[in-house]
Amino acid sequence: MPHAILVLVFTAILAFMLAACDSHEQNDAVAYSPIGPVPHVPQRRGDPDKGYEALLNAPYITCGMPYSAYKQTAPPPEPEMLISGRPGRNAELPYNLTAYTTPEGVELVVNNCLHCHAGFFDGKLVIGLGNENLDYTEDRTAAVESIGAYVDDEAEAAEWRRWADRVRAMTPYRITDTVGSNPAINMTLALMAHRDSATLAWSQDPLIDPPPKTVAPVSVPPWWRMAKKNAAYYNTEGRGDLARAMMVGAIFCADDLDTVRNIDTYAPDILAYFASIKPPPWPFGIDAPLAERGRVVFERTCSGCHGTYGEQPSYPNLVLGLDEIGTDPVMAQNAAGGTSNRFIRWFNRSYYGETARAAPAMGYIAPPLDGIWITAPYLHNGSVPTIEALLDSSKRPKYWTRSYGSSAADYDPVALGWRYTELTEGKEGVKDSRERKKIYDTTLPAYSNAGHAFGDSLSPEERKAVLEYLKTL
Ligand code: HEC
Ligand code: HEC
Repeated sequence: MPHAILVLVFTAILAFMLAACDSHEQNDAVAYSPIGPVPHVPQRRGDPDKGYEALLNAPYITCGMPYSAYKQTAPPPEPEMLISGRPGRNAELPYNLTAYTTPEGVELVVNNCLHCHAGFFDGKLVIGLGNENLDYTEDRTAAVESIGAYVDDEAEAAEWRRWADRVRAMTPYRITDTVGSNPAINMTLALMAHRDSATLAWSQDPLIDPPPKTVAPVSVPPWWRMAKKNAAYYNTEGRGDLARAMMVGAIFCADDLDTVRNIDTYAPDILAYFASIKPPPWPFGIDAPLAERGRVVFERTCSGCHGTYGEQPSYPNLVLGLDEIGTDPVMAQNAAGGTSNRFIRWFNRSYYGETARAAPAMGYIAPPLDGIWITAPYLHNGSVPTIEALLDSSKRPKYWTRSYGSSAADYDPVALGWRYTELTEGKEGVKDSRERKKIYDTTLPAYSNAGHAFGDSLSPEERKAVLEYLKTL
């Protein structure tokens, strides 16, 4: 072979090797997202009606309690817990449960996404509203183990065991200090630690270091924001193909690639459904001239981050750095501070990372404020009970508690949020654990209510007008 050709062949092989090496590195390199606007990425199209059907009825969670055990242990659901028009067995199940029959023919009752992503206002279910009343302060392993007494046969026992093992593996990473705080982020990281990133196969022992056991409090954001957001999650770590990124929410029992590939076929429909949800309108009266004055103040003071509303809305998709926003830094630091790189790598190497990307920013996105009146408590950690207090930091309670009710009487239409009681002390002095877990203590790490002081410079009149305007969004 002439020398020149040899050199060419050699160079080609070298280039190929370098490229292979490069793409491997790229796959494994951890990249955080910058502060500033999140660029728009074209998304797969979906059918919102099919998405709604899938959310309520499709088998994206494939492990849970055998139906026979459910029937023997659960009281019949209250009428407001039922969603009409659900087919088959689902017609009798509460909105947050879905029936699923395994390939072996075992009928299960499994939690669906509405468990955390639907809430009540005045007796009416609002799909897409974060459920801020869930109690994750208790260890539920004993309760799940006790279900074993009600299973009928070996096939059922095996399914119950699969579910109970998952619950047991997750429990140490899922216990919160405060009712209403949601552990979904830590749970997801714990589940990743128990799965092979290539095959998704479950391992009862963790394959990478699990997350820390202290759970930072998180408030569940409303789904309708996805109509405007170019990234998912408070710190915008869900990037790229958002339908796939968000379906990591179904990782609890997604034990193989076939299961997640099937979920991925209807994930765009679910995202399209989220984008179609209209937040519930303000149910009380509105002082229209006051709201109009509020709009002017809002557009001058708030729109640069939160966008404009009405006929031709705009939304800047802006991520603020921690220094500028000043709210509790722990959530952002946990994700983009270096200690979570193994989970970012896990995601980006896995099936999810083929089209989506985990790339947290060291900050928080200014969310769209559509339907903001109903999504109390506020900020990513749910540390501020009302919008009135959010807009005037001198009014933010250091220690507070609420009834966790959802009737109109539990809601404060002046301050915009669930009624709360300010307390004189935090969790420390309180012995009774039932009382203790209902205290939101902003002096604890990750629970701070500082920052977002953008309303402080407004006059009381202007603040009142902005509050009135926010009711119309
Ligand atoms: C255990 C409670 C829980 C369950 C179950 C759950 N989520 Fe979530 N979800 C959350 C929390 C908490 C967040 C906020 C996390 C963050 O921003 O880092 C969230 C965020 C989201 C977001 C991003 C919203 C935004 O404004 O960025 C989407 C979309 C979403 N979830 C979809 C789903 C889907 C689809 C399912 C079912 C497969 C699901 N979730 C199941 C708790 C839950
Ligand atoms: C410089 C950008 C910026 C300005 C100006 C700004 N905000 Fe925000 N806002 C944010 C960010 C970022 C968050 C999320 C912070 C977090 O969750 O930690 C936020 C959160 C909020 C929330 C809570 C959302 C939720 O679901 O918890 C409300 C309500 C809000 N802002 C209203 C306003 C109003 C009203 C104004 C004008 C008086 C305003 N903001 C001005 C950036 C801004």
